Amino acid sequence: MSDDPLFQEIIRKRRSTRKYEAGHAVDRAVLERIVDCGRWAPSGANVQCFEFLVIDDPSIKEKVTDVYKAQAQRLVDHAKGFPAVKKDYLANTVAIIIVLGDPRWKVCFPQPTTPEYKAEYLNNNEAIFLCSLGAAIQNIQLGVAAEGLTSAWLSGGGEDETNQDLADLLGYPSWMKAYGTIPIGYPVKTQNSRYRRPLDQCLHWNGYDAEQYRRHEQIDFYESTLRPFAMYRDEEKLETWPDRDVKLGQWNQAFTTGTANPSRQLEGDADFSKPRTTGRATKRR
Ligand SMILES: Cc1cc2nc3c(=O)[nH]c(=O)nc-3n(C[C@H](O)[C@H](O)[C@H](O)COP(=O)(O)O)c2cc1C
Repeated sequence: MSDDPLFQEIIRKRRSTRKYEAGHAVDRAVLERIVDCGRWAPSGANVQCFEFLVIDDPSIKEKVTDVYKAQAQRLVDHAKGFPAVKKDYLANTVAIIIVLGDPRWKVCFPQPTTPEYKAEYLNNNEAIFLCSLGAAIQNIQLGVAAEGLTSAWLSGGGEDETNQDLADLLGYPSWMKAYGTIPIGYPVKTQNSRYRRPLDQCLHWNGYDAEQYRRHEQIDFYESTLRPFAMYRDEEKLETWPDRDVKLGQWNQAFTTGTANPSRQLEGDADFSKPRTTGRATKRR
């Protein structure tokens, strides 16, 4: 990261905002500058496997909002325990940018020419595709922050039913996918920061430091108990929470210092394809 204070300020100002002030509008020139930030994102083999749909017409925005309200309700009904937020707030945005991914371009990434390397390349091509789209979405969110506006990053458009609804509404082929939906607007209040791991916990100099390793049970605890607070409380540091001891319990040190794993013992791979425990936040599952 550069030591340019403006650049750092924009990085930190980019936040996920889920409440916007109603009644604003924005010039298309501003939206064009924002989308141009996405256009300048890096992409594997420079394929630029994205399309940017900008919704600034109030009547279409209303229909997109309806699609997302239904998506949020499906989460409540079928992904119980996830701290989902209602999506009515989309109606108060000045615009919504939808980043489509075009999967055909994956053919331009390294292709296996021997059977034993099939999985090797095809799996990684999926990663290249998704990372390219993530870079574009991130650039757009930074562009929004640089314009003094705020945004969010919604991934629900990538769910099949939601993507089909959006494709029907907006006219794109449904084999393309809305990997990122970026509502844009004016926040209702000044935004504080959000939980971030301490730097000395995620920064490893010249090799992986086993003391920083987060144990399987720490992830279980985050998923089942801590997640809603880590997602929605306006504090960067968990140690400033007045109820820190209650919320973190035995995981206090692991979440707040660079020593998540004092024993330095690593664990083997484990099945995290579904939640492994229930906790205070997921009892209703
Ligand atoms: C790939 C990805 C998917 C996300 N999906 C959603 C989403 O569907 N809905 C939402 O409200 N936030 C979503 N977020 C935002 C995260 O919840 C948010 O970035 C995180 O809690 C940190 O907060 P901050 O962005 O304010 O720093 C997503 C973020 C990423 C990177």
